[in-house]
Amino acid sequence: MILVTGGAGFIGGNFVLDWLAQSDEPVINVDKLTYAGNTDTLKSLAQNPAHVFVRADIGDREVLGKLLAEHRPRAVINFAAESHVDRSITGPGEFIQTNVVGTFNLLEAVRAYWTDLPADDKAAFRFLHVSTDEVYGTLSATDAPFAETNRYEPNSPYSASKAASDHLVRAWHHTYGLPVLTTNCSNNYGPYHFPEKLIPLVILNALAGKPLPIYGDGQQIRDWLYVKDHCSAIRRVLQDGRLGETYNVGGWNEKANLDVVNTICSILDEIKPRADGAAYASQITYVQDRPGHDRRYAIDARKLERELGWKPAETFETGIRKTVQWYLDNQDWVGNVTSGAYRDWVAQQYGA
Ligand code: NAD
Ligand code: DAU
Repeated sequence: MILVTGGAGFIGGNFVLDWLAQSDEPVINVDKLTYAGNTDTLKSLAQNPAHVFVRADIGDREVLGKLLAEHRPRAVINFAAESHVDRSITGPGEFIQTNVVGTFNLLEAVRAYWTDLPADDKAAFRFLHVSTDEVYGTLSATDAPFAETNRYEPNSPYSASKAASDHLVRAWHHTYGLPVLTTNCSNNYGPYHFPEKLIPLVILNALAGKPLPIYGDGQQIRDWLYVKDHCSAIRRVLQDGRLGETYNVGGWNEKANLDVVNTICSILDEIKPRADGAAYASQITYVQDRPGHDRRYAIDARKLERELGWKPAETFETGIRKTVQWYLDNQDWVGNVTSGAYRDWVAQQYGA
Protein backbone atom coordinates (compact mmCIF):
# COMPACT_ATOMS: atom_id res chain seq x y z
CA MET A 1 0.00 0.00 0.00
CA ILE A 2 0.91 3.66 -0.19
CA LEU A 3 0.60 6.41 2.41
CA VAL A 4 -0.53 9.84 1.23
CA THR A 5 -0.44 12.98 3.37
CA GLY A 6 -2.81 15.89 2.70
CA GLY A 7 -5.20 13.62 0.82
CA ALA A 8 -8.28 15.62 1.87
CA GLY A 9 -6.97 18.72 0.08
CA PHE A 10 -7.33 19.72 -3.54
CA ILE A 11 -4.48 17.86 -5.25
CA GLY A 12 -4.12 15.08 -2.67
CA GLY A 13 -7.88 14.40 -2.86
CA ASN A 14 -7.79 14.18 -6.65
CA PHE A 15 -4.73 11.95 -6.39
CA VAL A 16 -6.40 9.49 -3.99
CA LEU A 17 -9.60 9.36 -6.09
CA ASP A 18 -7.65 8.77 -9.30
CA TRP A 19 -5.35 6.22 -7.66
CA LEU A 20 -8.22 4.08 -6.39
CA ALA A 21 -10.07 4.40 -9.70
CA GLN A 22 -7.10 2.80 -11.44
CA SER A 23 -5.64 0.44 -8.88
CA ASP A 24 -6.70 -1.77 -5.99
CA GLU A 25 -3.53 -0.95 -4.06
CA PRO A 26 -4.77 0.52 -0.75
CA VAL A 27 -4.13 4.10 0.37
CA ILE A 28 -3.61 5.33 3.94
CA ASN A 29 -4.69 8.94 3.80
CA VAL A 30 -3.22 11.07 6.62
CA ASP A 31 -4.62 14.58 6.87
CA LYS A 32 -4.93 17.09 9.71
CA LEU A 33 -8.17 18.50 8.24
CA THR A 34 -7.26 22.15 8.42
CA TYR A 35 -9.69 24.66 6.85
CA ALA A 36 -8.40 23.35 3.45
CA GLY A 37 -9.06 19.68 4.17
CA ASN A 38 -12.45 18.36 3.22
CA THR A 39 -13.66 14.80 3.67
CA ASP A 40 -16.60 15.54 1.32
CA THR A 41 -14.09 15.22 -1.51
CA LEU A 42 -13.57 11.60 -0.45
CA LYS A 43 -17.26 10.77 0.03
CA SER A 44 -17.35 8.31 -2.88
CA LEU A 45 -14.73 6.19 -1.05
CA ALA A 46 -16.79 5.76 2.12
CA GLN A 47 -17.48 2.07 1.44
CA ASN A 48 -14.12 1.35 -0.16
CA PRO A 49 -11.93 -0.79 2.16
CA ALA A 50 -8.86 0.22 0.12
CA HIS A 51 -9.12 3.75 1.54
CA VAL A 52 -8.16 4.30 5.18
CA PHE A 53 -8.50 7.85 6.42
CA VAL A 54 -6.56 8.97 9.52
CA ARG A 55 -6.83 12.45 10.97
CA ALA A 56 -3.29 13.36 12.02
CA ASP A 57 -0.63 16.04 11.72
CA ILE A 58 2.52 15.33 9.67
CA GLY A 59 4.35 16.99 12.56
CA ASP A 60 3.26 14.20 14.94
CA ARG A 61 6.20 11.83 14.64
CA GLU A 62 4.84 9.34 17.15
CA VAL A 63 1.51 8.85 15.38
CA LEU A 64 3.24 8.67 12.01
CA GLY A 65 5.69 6.07 13.34
CA LYS A 66 2.79 3.93 14.55
CA LEU A 67 0.93 4.25 11.24
CA LEU A 68 4.02 3.32 9.24
CA ALA A 69 4.77 0.32 11.47
CA GLU A 70 1.16 -0.88 11.29
CA HIS A 71 0.50 -0.44 7.55
CA ARG A 72 4.02 -0.88 6.13
CA PRO A 73 3.59 1.24 2.98
CA ARG A 74 5.95 0.87 0.02
CA ALA A 75 5.79 4.63 -0.59
CA VAL A 76 4.89 7.91 1.11
CA ILE A 77 3.63 10.82 -1.01
CA ASN A 78 3.68 14.15 0.79
CA PHE A 79 0.99 16.61 -0.33
CA ALA A 80 0.28 18.05 3.13
CA ALA A 81 1.08 21.76 3.34
CA GLU A 82 -0.27 25.19 3.95
CA SER A 83 -0.69 26.22 0.31
CA HIS A 84 -2.23 29.69 -0.07
CA VAL A 85 0.19 32.55 -0.76
CA ASP A 86 -2.15 35.28 0.55
CA ARG A 87 -2.61 33.44 3.85
CA SER A 88 1.18 33.11 4.15
CA ILE A 89 1.41 36.89 3.93
CA THR A 90 -1.17 37.55 6.65
CA GLY A 91 -0.01 34.66 8.87
CA PRO A 92 3.31 32.97 8.03
CA GLY A 93 3.62 30.98 11.29
CA GLU A 94 1.49 28.00 10.22
CA PHE A 95 3.50 27.76 6.99
CA ILE A 96 6.76 27.37 8.88
CA GLN A 97 5.13 24.92 11.27
CA THR A 98 3.62 22.57 8.70
CA ASN A 99 5.78 23.05 5.62
CA VAL A 100 9.15 23.17 7.37
CA VAL A 101 8.84 21.61 10.85
CA GLY A 102 6.09 19.21 9.73
CA THR A 103 8.12 18.00 6.74
CA PHE A 104 11.13 17.54 9.03
CA ASN A 105 9.12 15.38 11.45
CA LEU A 106 7.61 13.39 8.60
CA LEU A 107 11.07 12.76 7.15
CA GLU A 108 12.33 11.59 10.52
CA ALA A 109 9.40 9.22 11.03
CA VAL A 110 9.86 7.84 7.52
CA ARG A 111 13.61 7.49 7.98
CA ALA A 112 13.17 5.48 11.18
CA TYR A 113 10.68 3.17 9.44
CA TRP A 114 12.74 2.83 6.24
CA THR A 115 16.00 2.12 8.11
CA ASP A 116 14.56 -1.04 9.64
CA LEU A 117 12.94 -2.42 6.49
CA PRO A 118 14.24 -5.70 5.05
CA ALA A 119 16.76 -5.09 2.23
CA ASP A 120 14.34 -5.65 -0.71
CA ASP A 121 11.61 -3.45 0.77
CA LYS A 122 14.20 -0.83 1.65
CA ALA A 123 15.46 -0.71 -1.92
CA ALA A 124 11.93 -0.47 -3.35
CA PHE A 125 10.70 2.22 -0.93
CA ARG A 126 10.03 5.79 -2.19
CA PHE A 127 9.34 9.14 -0.49
CA LEU A 128 7.81 11.53 -3.03
CA HIS A 129 7.64 15.18 -2.01
CA VAL A 130 5.16 17.40 -3.87
CA SER A 131 6.45 20.94 -4.26
CA THR A 132 5.92 24.05 -6.31
CA ASP A 133 7.43 26.12 -9.10
CA GLU A 134 7.27 29.15 -6.76
CA VAL A 135 10.57 28.06 -5.18
CA TYR A 136 12.31 29.40 -8.30
CA GLY A 137 11.03 32.94 -7.74
CA THR A 138 9.69 35.04 -10.59
CA LEU A 139 10.39 35.39 -14.33
CA SER A 140 10.42 38.41 -16.64
CA ALA A 141 8.41 38.24 -19.87
CA THR A 142 11.48 37.15 -21.85
CA ASP A 143 13.12 34.70 -19.38
CA ALA A 144 13.21 31.01 -20.26
CA PRO A 145 10.77 28.85 -18.26
CA PHE A 146 11.97 27.34 -14.97
CA ALA A 147 14.20 24.29 -15.42
CA GLU A 148 15.20 21.95 -12.59
CA THR A 149 18.63 23.62 -12.62
CA ASN A 150 17.28 27.11 -11.84
CA ARG A 151 18.40 28.72 -8.59
CA TYR A 152 15.98 28.71 -5.68
CA GLU A 153 14.82 32.32 -5.17
CA PRO A 154 11.53 32.13 -3.22
CA ASN A 155 9.76 35.45 -2.66
CA SER A 156 6.78 34.76 -0.37
CA PRO A 157 6.60 33.16 3.08
CA TYR A 158 4.79 30.26 1.37
CA SER A 159 7.42 29.69 -1.31
CA ALA A 160 10.25 30.13 1.21
CA SER A 161 8.70 27.45 3.42
CA LYS A 162 8.29 25.09 0.46
CA ALA A 163 11.88 25.78 -0.62
CA ALA A 164 13.04 24.90 2.90
CA SER A 165 11.08 21.64 2.76
CA ASP A 166 12.65 20.76 -0.60
CA HIS A 167 16.10 21.31 0.88
CA LEU A 168 15.30 19.04 3.82
CA VAL A 169 14.12 16.30 1.46
CA ARG A 170 17.27 16.65 -0.63
CA ALA A 171 19.49 16.52 2.47
CA TRP A 172 17.75 13.39 3.82
CA HIS A 173 18.67 11.70 0.55
CA HIS A 174 22.27 12.85 0.43
CA THR A 175 23.00 12.31 4.13
CA TYR A 176 20.90 9.28 5.05
CA GLY A 177 20.27 7.73 1.63
CA LEU A 178 16.48 8.05 1.97
CA PRO A 179 15.09 7.21 -1.50
CA VAL A 180 13.38 10.50 -2.34
CA LEU A 181 11.82 12.10 -5.40
CA THR A 182 10.66 15.73 -5.65
CA THR A 183 8.20 17.26 -8.08
CA ASN A 184 7.86 21.03 -8.58
CA CYS A 185 4.69 21.88 -10.40
CA SER A 186 2.88 24.93 -11.70
CA ASN A 187 -0.62 26.21 -10.82
CA ASN A 188 -3.17 23.40 -10.69
CA TYR A 189 -6.88 23.79 -11.39
CA GLY A 190 -9.81 21.40 -11.64
CA PRO A 191 -12.44 19.69 -9.43
CA TYR A 192 -12.41 20.06 -5.62
CA HIS A 193 -10.28 23.24 -5.69
CA PHE A 194 -10.85 25.30 -2.54
CA PRO A 195 -12.41 28.64 -3.57
CA GLU A 196 -9.77 30.88 -2.00
CA LYS A 197 -7.65 30.33 -5.15
CA LEU A 198 -8.19 32.39 -8.31
CA ILE A 199 -10.06 29.98 -10.61
CA PRO A 200 -12.67 28.54 -8.21
CA LEU A 201 -13.07 31.95 -6.52
CA VAL A 202 -13.91 33.56 -9.85
CA ILE A 203 -16.34 30.83 -10.91
CA LEU A 204 -18.24 31.01 -7.61
CA ASN A 205 -18.19 34.81 -7.33
CA ALA A 206 -19.41 35.11 -10.91
CA LEU A 207 -22.36 32.82 -10.24
CA ALA A 208 -23.15 34.67 -6.99
CA GLY A 209 -23.12 38.08 -8.74
CA LYS A 210 -20.12 39.19 -6.67
CA PRO A 211 -17.02 41.15 -7.79
CA LEU A 212 -14.27 39.19 -9.58
CA PRO A 213 -11.16 40.56 -7.81
CA ILE A 214 -8.11 41.15 -10.04
CA TYR A 215 -4.91 41.94 -8.16
CA GLY A 216 -2.94 44.86 -9.64
CA ASP A 217 -3.07 45.05 -13.44
CA GLY A 218 -4.05 41.39 -13.94
CA GLN A 219 -1.09 40.80 -16.25
CA GLN A 220 0.69 38.33 -13.95
CA ILE A 221 1.26 35.04 -15.75
CA ARG A 222 0.75 31.52 -14.42
CA ASP A 223 1.28 28.18 -16.22
CA TRP A 224 -1.94 26.26 -15.66
CA LEU A 225 -1.94 22.49 -15.16
CA TYR A 226 -5.12 20.44 -14.99
CA VAL A 227 -5.01 18.59 -11.65
CA LYS A 228 -5.54 15.15 -13.18
CA ASP A 229 -2.50 15.70 -15.39
CA HIS A 230 -0.52 16.54 -12.26
CA CYS A 231 -1.73 13.30 -10.66
CA SER A 232 -0.65 11.26 -13.68
CA ALA A 233 2.78 12.93 -13.55
CA ILE A 234 3.17 11.98 -9.87
CA ARG A 235 2.24 8.36 -10.61
CA ARG A 236 4.83 8.33 -13.41
CA VAL A 237 7.59 9.81 -11.23
CA LEU A 238 6.73 7.44 -8.38
CA GLN A 239 7.05 4.48 -10.71
CA ASP A 240 10.19 5.33 -12.65
CA GLY A 241 11.72 8.58 -11.35
CA ARG A 242 15.44 8.52 -10.63
CA LEU A 243 16.24 8.66 -6.93
CA GLY A 244 17.24 12.06 -5.57
CA GLU A 245 16.05 13.82 -8.74
CA THR A 246 13.57 16.65 -9.05
CA TYR A 247 11.06 16.84 -11.89
CA ASN A 248 9.25 20.00 -13.00
CA VAL A 249 5.60 19.47 -13.93
CA GLY A 250 3.75 22.04 -16.03
CA GLY A 251 0.89 22.36 -18.46
CA TRP A 252 2.55 24.45 -21.21
CA ASN A 253 -0.37 26.84 -20.65
CA GLU A 254 0.93 30.29 -19.78
CA LYS A 255 -1.93 32.74 -19.32
CA ALA A 256 -2.29 36.22 -17.84
CA ASN A 257 -4.74 36.31 -14.92
CA LEU A 258 -7.07 38.71 -16.73
CA ASP A 259 -7.25 36.31 -19.70
CA VAL A 260 -8.05 33.43 -17.36
CA VAL A 261 -10.87 35.40 -15.76
CA ASN A 262 -12.24 36.53 -19.14
CA THR A 263 -12.19 32.93 -20.40
CA ILE A 264 -14.20 31.76 -17.37
CA CYS A 265 -16.66 34.61 -17.92
CA SER A 266 -17.15 33.70 -21.60
CA ILE A 267 -17.77 30.02 -20.78
CA LEU A 268 -20.34 31.02 -18.16
CA ASP A 269 -21.96 33.49 -20.60
CA GLU A 270 -22.41 30.53 -22.94
CA ILE A 271 -23.53 27.75 -20.59
CA LYS A 272 -25.13 29.65 -17.69
CA PRO A 273 -26.02 33.17 -18.90
CA ARG A 274 -26.86 35.80 -16.31
CA ALA A 275 -30.59 36.32 -15.80
CA ASP A 276 -30.25 40.00 -16.79
CA GLY A 277 -28.36 39.12 -20.00
CA ALA A 278 -25.27 41.13 -18.92
CA ALA A 279 -21.79 39.68 -19.46
CA TYR A 280 -20.12 38.13 -16.40
CA ALA A 281 -16.99 40.14 -17.27
CA SER A 282 -18.87 43.24 -16.09
CA GLN A 283 -18.23 41.92 -12.54
CA ILE A 284 -14.43 42.26 -12.95
CA THR A 285 -13.07 44.57 -10.24
CA TYR A 286 -9.45 45.69 -9.86
CA VAL A 287 -8.25 45.46 -6.26
CA GLN A 288 -5.02 46.16 -4.40
CA ASP A 289 -2.10 44.02 -5.55
CA ARG A 290 -0.61 41.17 -3.49
CA PRO A 291 2.58 42.32 -1.68
CA GLY A 292 5.66 40.89 -3.42
CA HIS A 293 3.45 39.48 -6.19
CA ASP A 294 5.51 37.25 -8.54
CA ARG A 295 5.05 38.44 -12.12
CA ARG A 296 5.42 35.27 -14.13
CA TYR A 297 5.78 31.53 -13.60
CA ALA A 298 6.42 29.10 -16.44
CA ILE A 299 7.60 25.51 -16.31
CA ASP A 300 9.96 23.73 -18.64
CA ALA A 301 8.61 20.19 -18.33
CA ARG A 302 10.92 18.62 -20.89
CA LYS A 303 12.92 16.54 -18.41
CA LEU A 304 9.79 14.67 -17.36
CA GLU A 305 8.84 14.13 -20.99
CA ARG A 306 12.34 13.07 -22.06
CA GLU A 307 13.05 10.71 -19.16
CA LEU A 308 9.61 9.35 -18.30
CA GLY A 309 7.51 10.06 -21.39
CA TRP A 310 4.96 12.21 -19.50
CA LYS A 311 2.94 14.93 -21.22
CA PRO A 312 -0.22 16.70 -20.05
CA ALA A 313 -3.42 15.49 -21.70
CA GLU A 314 -5.46 18.69 -21.30
CA THR A 315 -5.04 22.08 -22.89
CA PHE A 316 -6.21 25.07 -20.85
CA GLU A 317 -9.24 25.37 -23.13
CA THR A 318 -10.42 21.78 -22.50
CA GLY A 319 -9.50 21.75 -18.81
CA ILE A 320 -11.15 25.05 -17.89
CA ARG A 321 -14.42 24.07 -19.58
CA LYS A 322 -14.51 20.80 -17.59
CA THR A 323 -13.71 22.74 -14.42
CA VAL A 324 -16.47 25.33 -14.85
CA GLN A 325 -18.96 22.54 -15.59
CA TRP A 326 -17.79 20.62 -12.50
CA TYR A 327 -18.54 23.59 -10.24
CA LEU A 328 -21.98 23.99 -11.80
CA ASP A 329 -22.68 20.28 -11.25
CA ASN A 330 -21.36 20.08 -7.68
CA GLN A 331 -23.17 22.77 -5.76
CA ASP A 332 -23.43 20.54 -2.66
CA TRP A 333 -19.65 20.31 -2.35
CA VAL A 334 -19.41 24.06 -2.90
CA GLY A 335 -22.07 24.79 -0.29
CA ASN A 336 -20.21 22.78 2.34
CA VAL A 337 -16.80 24.37 1.79
CA THR A 338 -18.05 27.94 1.64
CA SER A 339 -19.23 27.87 5.24
CA GLY A 340 -18.20 30.01 8.22
CA ALA A 341 -14.39 29.85 8.18
CA TYR A 342 -14.33 30.52 4.45
CA ARG A 343 -16.56 33.57 4.78
CA ASP A 344 -14.29 34.93 7.53
CA TRP A 345 -11.27 34.65 5.22
CA VAL A 346 -13.05 36.39 2.33
CA ALA A 347 -14.09 39.23 4.63
CA GLN A 348 -10.53 39.63 5.92
CA GLN A 349 -8.86 39.45 2.48
CA TYR A 350 -11.25 41.46 0.32
CA GLY A 351 -13.02 43.62 2.93
CA ALA A 352 -16.55 44.68 2.30
P1 NAD B 1 -4.60 22.32 -0.14
O1 NAD B 1 -4.37 23.51 0.71
O2 NAD B 1 -5.82 22.24 -0.97
O3 NAD B 1 -4.57 21.00 0.75
C1 NAD B 1 -3.63 20.78 1.76
C2 NAD B 1 -4.08 19.60 2.60
O4 NAD B 1 -3.07 19.35 3.58
C3 NAD B 1 -5.39 19.84 3.34
O5 NAD B 1 -6.22 18.71 3.23
C4 NAD B 1 -4.94 20.06 4.79
O6 NAD B 1 -5.91 19.64 5.73
C5 NAD B 1 -3.69 19.19 4.85
N1 NAD B 1 -2.76 19.63 5.87
C6 NAD B 1 -2.34 20.90 6.13
N2 NAD B 1 -1.49 20.90 7.16
C7 NAD B 1 -1.34 19.61 7.55
C8 NAD B 1 -0.57 18.97 8.56
N3 NAD B 1 0.22 19.66 9.39
N4 NAD B 1 -0.65 17.63 8.66
C9 NAD B 1 -1.47 16.90 7.86
N5 NAD B 1 -2.23 17.46 6.91
C10 NAD B 1 -2.15 18.80 6.75
O7 NAD B 1 -3.29 22.20 -1.04
P2 NAD B 1 -3.14 21.67 -2.54
O8 NAD B 1 -3.43 22.77 -3.46
O9 NAD B 1 -3.86 20.38 -2.66
O10 NAD B 1 -1.57 21.42 -2.56
C11 NAD B 1 -1.02 20.15 -2.25
C12 NAD B 1 0.48 20.24 -2.34
O11 NAD B 1 0.86 20.64 -3.66
C13 NAD B 1 1.10 21.28 -1.41
O12 NAD B 1 2.29 20.75 -0.91
C14 NAD B 1 1.36 22.48 -2.29
O13 NAD B 1 2.45 23.22 -1.82
C15 NAD B 1 1.68 21.80 -3.61
N6 NAD B 1 1.38 22.58 -4.81
C16 NAD B 1 0.12 23.06 -5.04
C17 NAD B 1 -0.16 23.73 -6.22
C18 NAD B 1 -1.53 24.27 -6.56
O14 NAD B 1 -1.69 24.93 -7.59
N7 NAD B 1 -2.55 24.03 -5.76
C19 NAD B 1 0.85 23.92 -7.17
C20 NAD B 1 2.13 23.46 -6.86
C21 NAD B 1 2.38 22.76 -5.70
O1 DAU C 1 2.58 28.09 -8.87
C1 DAU C 1 2.13 27.10 -8.00
C2 DAU C 1 1.33 27.70 -6.88
O2 DAU C 1 0.08 28.10 -7.43
C3 DAU C 1 1.13 26.77 -5.70
O3 DAU C 1 2.38 26.44 -5.15
C4 DAU C 1 0.22 27.39 -4.66
O4 DAU C 1 -0.05 26.46 -3.63
C5 DAU C 1 -1.08 27.78 -5.32
O5 DAU C 1 -1.93 28.42 -4.40
C6 DAU C 1 -0.82 28.69 -6.53
O6 DAU C 1 -0.31 29.97 -6.09
P1 DAU C 1 -0.79 31.34 -6.77
O7 DAU C 1 -0.55 32.44 -5.83
O8 DAU C 1 -0.24 31.46 -8.15
O9 DAU C 1 -2.38 30.99 -6.92
P2 DAU C 1 -3.69 31.89 -6.64
O10 DAU C 1 -4.84 31.11 -7.19
O11 DAU C 1 -3.74 32.37 -5.25
O12 DAU C 1 -3.44 33.14 -7.59
C7 DAU C 1 -3.26 32.97 -9.00
C8 DAU C 1 -2.97 34.35 -9.57
O13 DAU C 1 -4.17 35.13 -9.49
C9 DAU C 1 -1.92 35.13 -8.81
O14 DAU C 1 -1.17 35.91 -9.73
C10 DAU C 1 -2.73 36.04 -7.88
C11 DAU C 1 -3.97 36.31 -8.69
N1 DAU C 1 -5.21 36.52 -7.91
C12 DAU C 1 -5.54 35.60 -6.94
C13 DAU C 1 -6.68 35.78 -6.18
C14 DAU C 1 -7.02 34.78 -5.10
C15 DAU C 1 -6.05 37.61 -8.20
O15 DAU C 1 -5.78 38.41 -9.10
N2 DAU C 1 -7.20 37.75 -7.44
C16 DAU C 1 -7.52 36.89 -6.44
O16 DAU C 1 -8.58 37.12 -5.76
